[in-house]
Parts: sequence; C-alpha cells; structure tokens
Amino acid sequence: MAKGVNSTLVYILGALFMVSFVFVFEAMLTVFSRFYSDAFAKKLVQIERNTKGISKHEQSEIRNCNLFEGSWVLDDDLDPLYNTTTCPFIRKTFDCTKRPDRQYLKYRWQPTACDLPRFDGRDFLRRFKGKQIMFIGDSLSLNNYDSFLCLLYVSVPGINYKTKLTNQSVTVIFEDYDVSATLFNSLYLVDVEEEHMGKVLKLNSIKNGEIWKQADVLIFNTWLWWARRKPRQPWDYIEDDGKMVKDMNRMAAFRRGLNTWVKWVKTEVDLTKTKVFYQGEAASHHYGEDWGQPGVKGCLNQTTPVAGSIYPGGLPLPAKIVKEVLKNKSKSIFLLDITILTHLRKDGHPGNYNGYGGVDCTHFCLSGVPDTWNQLFYASLLHLTS
Ligand SMILES: *[C@@H]1O[C@H](CO)[C@@H](O)[C@H](O)[C@H]1NC(C)=O
Ligand SMILES: *[C@@H]1O[C@H](CO)[C@@H](O)[C@H](O)[C@H]1NC(C)=O
Ligand SMILES: *[C@@H]1O[C@H](CO)[C@@H](O)[C@H](O)[C@H]1NC(C)=O
Ligand SMILES: *[C@@H]1O[C@H](CO)[C@@H](O)[C@H](O)[C@H]1NC(C)=O
Repeated sequence: MAKGVNSTLVYILGALFMVSFVFVFEAMLTVFSRFYSDAFAKKLVQIERNTKGISKHEQSEIRNCNLFEGSWVLDDDLDPLYNTTTCPFIRKTFDCTKRPDRQYLKYRWQPTACDLPRFDGRDFLRRFKGKQIMFIGDSLSLNNYDSFLCLLYVSVPGINYKTKLTNQSVTVIFEDYDVSATLFNSLYLVDVEEEHMGKVLKLNSIKNGEIWKQADVLIFNTWLWWARRKPRQPWDYIEDDGKMVKDMNRMAAFRRGLNTWVKWVKTEVDLTKTKVFYQGEAASHHYGEDWGQPGVKGCLNQTTPVAGSIYPGGLPLPAKIVKEVLKNKSKSIFLLDITILTHLRKDGHPGNYNGYGGVDCTHFCLSGVPDTWNQLFYASLLHLTS
C-alpha cells in the first residue's frame, strides 16, 4: 500500500528491516523528519508498519502498554482501508457512503503509552492458516465481523472466498489461506427456547457452546438485548436456577447470564487450543448530557469525537458488570476493553445516512470505529499467541 511513494525507497526500507536495523531506522526517521515535512515522516512510519506485521520491538512495547487507554487523534493522512467499492461485505446498515462529512474517517486511536500497530491482514491470514475465528453475539458482533472480513479481504488483492450459511451463522472461508471467519448469531449467549408456555430465556444454559468450542478463536459480545422490553423483547419468561419468572432486574439477569458463560468457558473450552475474547460493550449515543452537550438528542450532526481520554458519562453499568464478572472468575478470557474508546466516538454512527430509513446511533459506520476494534483484537491476539 505504498501508494505514490518511490518504490526504490520502499525497497531500501524493506531491506533495512530484513537485517533488523530497527533502531538505526528510527534514528534515521528522526533525522529525515528534520529535513522533510512531518507528513513525509509519518508516511515512512506507515510503510514500515505495513510491510512487516508486528516486530519484536513493537510486541514488547505493546506488552507493557494499556492499548485501551488513550485518545482519538485527527490524522489527515489516514485513509480508510476499504469502502463499499472495494469490499463486498459491508451490510447496508453500516454503509455510510451517503454521509456528507468525511472527517470521521480521519481519527486514529492513540494509546497513551505506545503506538497501536496497523491491522496487517496478510500477516493475520498467514499466522492463522487452517484456523477458524468465530464472532458470537448480536448486531454489534456483526458490525465487528463485517469490518474484520473487509480488513482481511482488501489485504490480498484478488483473494478467493466462499460463503457457507446455516440457520444461525454465516461463514466466509478465505480459500487460499484456509482461514474461516464465522458470525454466530446469539443475542444473549445463554439460550432462548420455545416451551409450552412461550419463549424462555434460560440464564443457566448454553447449548450452542458445542458448536462454538470447535473454533480456534472466539470473540463474544452481548448486552444490547438484555435491556429490551416488549415488543422488542424476544422471550416471555426467564428461567433462573430452575425457577420460572415473568421478569427480573435486567442487570441482575445479565450478570447471571455472563456468569453462566464464564463457567462454560472454564469447563468446556480447551484453552490450550482456543483463545477466548470478550468484545466489551460498545456505545449508543442518544443523550447529549452523557458527553457534555445537554439537550442534544441522538448522534445526528456529530462530526467530531469527544476530546481527551475521559467520557463525561463514565463507564456504563453493563460494562462495569462485565469487568466485575471477568475479574471474579477468569484470567482465561481476554477483555477487548473498547467501551471508553468507543463512547468517545459520538461521531462514528451511521445516523440517518445508512440507506435504511431509521436513525442509527448504536452501530458504527464501515469503514470506521470497528476497524480500530479489530486493530486492537489483532494486536492482543498476537500478544497472546506469541
Ligand atoms: C473507495 O476506495 C477506492 C480506493 O481507495 C477509491 O478509489 C474510491 O474513490 C473509493 N470510493 C468511495 C465511494 O469512496
Ligand atoms: C438450526 O439448525 C439446527 C441443526 O440443523 C437445529 O438443531 C436448530 O434447532 C436450528 N435452530 C433454529 C433457531 O432454527
Ligand atoms: C442537524 O443539522 C440540521 C441542519 O443544520 C438541522 O436542521 C437539524 O435540526 C440538526 N439535527 C439535530 C438533531 O441537531
Ligand atoms: C462471582 O462468582 C460467584 C460464584 O459463581 C457468584 O455468585 C457472584 O455473583 C460473582 N460475582 C460477580 C461480581 O459477578
């Protein structure tokens, strides 16, 4: 992707890296940037990041850094890695081609203590040859999944793929690399089953786990539907510890469901083979007072992120519950802690530009914020598997 940059230069830089002159190169960059513009230096850094996956140096830097703490930085040189023309996987609901403002595509997540490596799709495909990556959850998993597919797809021009559907899942297989990416639709992770009195949300049961545990990497997510009430609530009763109730405190129910899921991971998943992630709660932007603009309703007309590292509205309760439950029980689950960084992106939603009728302040435009989730996923996965 060294567009418009002298290829000889790229070649020389590549060769430099082959012999691991990382530090020499960094020193050279500093010198270069004195003589050339900042933009030029930044381009060089991008080339470096694009050509080599993640170096040992970067890996050790990441290891000692909280990737999820930082701020969004405006970077005019940032170009989206894909769009609807170049990627066939963007669903209409996430397609923001019609959105007139484009600045939301120019923000880069900058962790406070280190740099976040770029998502290197080709490197990902090579490393995970023969493996299955499975996203399990609701439409925010789908949002993440479509971004993931696009990032892989555009990384290898002309890559072949085929698609497999079941009643609950879609799988895209990148044939040349034998990498498959699955989206398994599960609103609550725990079961919802039809019984004689109606549909029952079963807080202690995860039957689909038999399918999930066969994958090599699992990324779970749930919350959105726990708060929903009729007519958008797809169950009539809750079953908890053998007791059937008409309803209960939704936060308590969510906590029960998550605890069941953690227990399932610990007892059923072969953690020597399968890596388990939890995709932290994303953010809806419905009330301006949450981000310091009281009176503003919804995300329409929002064109910039919240500045800085702190979301005025703080960590939402479901995200706190996730942290508590994971802390309580498990080191075997890696939390992709995207909640705060996502909350800062009040400008990242499709709003009313998604060619679909309603106003959407819950999901995110593609290309857009979920690409950063995947960048974080990639960096964390490399960290866990190296
Ligand atoms: C999509 O990306 C390609 C390649 O970067 C670019 O040429 C094209 O103009 C973009 N299309 C839209 C609709 O943004
Ligand atoms: C989906 O298919 C599986 C196996 O073919 C079946 O056991 C399951 O009940 C189906 N689920 C739904 C929601 O239809
Ligand atoms: C968004 O901006 C348009 C045009 O300036 C205005 O008509 C509309 O009321 C604004 N909407 C919101 C929700 O602020
Ligand atoms: C921690 O685990 C125990 C035992 O499973 C459970 O009863 C408790 O509710 C959990 N605590 C939190 C904060 O989820």
